[in-house]
Amino acid sequence: MDKLVVTGGQPLTGSLPVGGSKNTALPLMAAALLADGTTTLTNIPALRDVYTFANVLRVSGASVSFDESAHQLRVDARRIDHPEAPYDLVKKMRASFYMLGALVGRCGQARVSLPGGCAWGPRPVDLHLEGMKAFGASIELDQGYVVASTPNGRLQGGSFRMEPSSVGATINLLLGAVTAQGGSRIENAAQEPDVVAFGETLKQMGAQIDGLGTRTIEVQGVDALEPVSVRNTPDRIEMGTFMVAALLAGEPGVPFRVKNGHHPHLGAAFKKHVADTGATVVYEDDVVTITPPDRIRPTSIATATYPGFPTDLQAQWGVLMAHADGTTRITDTIYDDRFKHIPELQRMGLDASVKGDTATIHGPTDFKAATVMSTDLRASVSLVLAGMVAEGTTDVLRVYHLDRGYENLEQKLQQAGIDIHREQYDEFSEPERVAERTA
Ligand code: EPU
Repeated sequence: MDKLVVTGGQPLTGSLPVGGSKNTALPLMAAALLADGTTTLTNIPALRDVYTFANVLRVSGASVSFDESAHQLRVDARRIDHPEAPYDLVKKMRASFYMLGALVGRCGQARVSLPGGCAWGPRPVDLHLEGMKAFGASIELDQGYVVASTPNGRLQGGSFRMEPSSVGATINLLLGAVTAQGGSRIENAAQEPDVVAFGETLKQMGAQIDGLGTRTIEVQGVDALEPVSVRNTPDRIEMGTFMVAALLAGEPGVPFRVKNGHHPHLGAAFKKHVADTGATVVYEDDVVTITPPDRIRPTSIATATYPGFPTDLQAQWGVLMAHADGTTRITDTIYDDRFKHIPELQRMGLDASVKGDTATIHGPTDFKAATVMSTDLRASVSLVLAGMVAEGTTDVLRVYHLDRGYENLEQKLQQAGIDIHREQYDEFSEPERVAERTA
């Protein structure tokens, strides 16, 4: 396995470039299955989740080619003749469950493995299934697989209100509804930029959708969609992570640039909280210039759906707040158990406690290097961030979690002055500490 070895104390200088969005790329790949032809996607990040999903698409009969250096992915979906997503792939990545909507939308039927639990909790898919039923699918469970069928090869359409609002369920229902025989309505739909960009692509493919970016989305089904060429959006979570990195490890008073992003996708809450830390931030077209203050002001946050503070930036924010002079509270209202990184950070000297959906962090922390374990994608990047400001050399184990969502992170950080490199290690020669569950 790989680990990242980070020696703390070097300031982050210059700039960091943002790549294409993971959480938009995956639904775009699913959308490609709806068109009888070849869809070309650009600005697709070379990430483990993209490779996993490419394999999921291939099982269905699609032919997928990925030019990693050009970040261009092509999906030839002329022959989709095996409407199934197997457990071996779905267990690696929950977003494989998008195959439910994509295959029902294209073939009128699907057999998709249930994803099971994840590293920080149950993460159910009941809304995906109830929504499909509301739109006319029959759903059965067979040996851990969801088997969906439609009366005459197409969903009928219908109305469904989701509670809570769900990114994944909104995407799955859109994938199914765009080729339904009738109209569909999704209430309390997700407004996340990933959903909007995905929905806009469906519209380019010929889908009839109203209300993207609002809580009510209406769809009028069409007979078929056309293949398109589309550029994926920049990754808003990578952008936010780099802004946090700049505040944490940049030099006070010295501007740092985060390039190639799309700052409106950060949402109002994240921007407000960044300003509340005392940072000076200038937002331009695709560049954010961020100047860290002398002292980070403690700034409590509560995650919420877009444009609220993203849950996917909560762990990183916790590390930044460990540096602040005072006490902060990090509340995750989306996932109430997403704090697996806290015990690892405590091994590096963090003074924090977790109660229910809230972590209370007492800063400032003088982080000390340790060997720490990644438990999921965002937790692992938070450990790297802590390592960047820790005294000594930190080993972040199991970085395959990080490789799901950050492309070439160590090369990017090296170019911005950080002492970090990748090494291989033998998991079984390391002291065994944490029993792992798949994410
Ligand atoms: N929920 C249900 N039932 C469902 C579906 C969701 O109760 O059927 C609940 C969840 O348990 C959670 C809330 O609804 O409490 C929201 O979950 P959502 O369905 O929106 O999450 P997701 O679609 O599974 C996506 C991202 C996650 C991100 C969340 C929230 C992708 C591939 N994943 O997950 O990203 O945390 O939205 O914004 O887009 C990550 O990138 O690190 C990551 C985990």
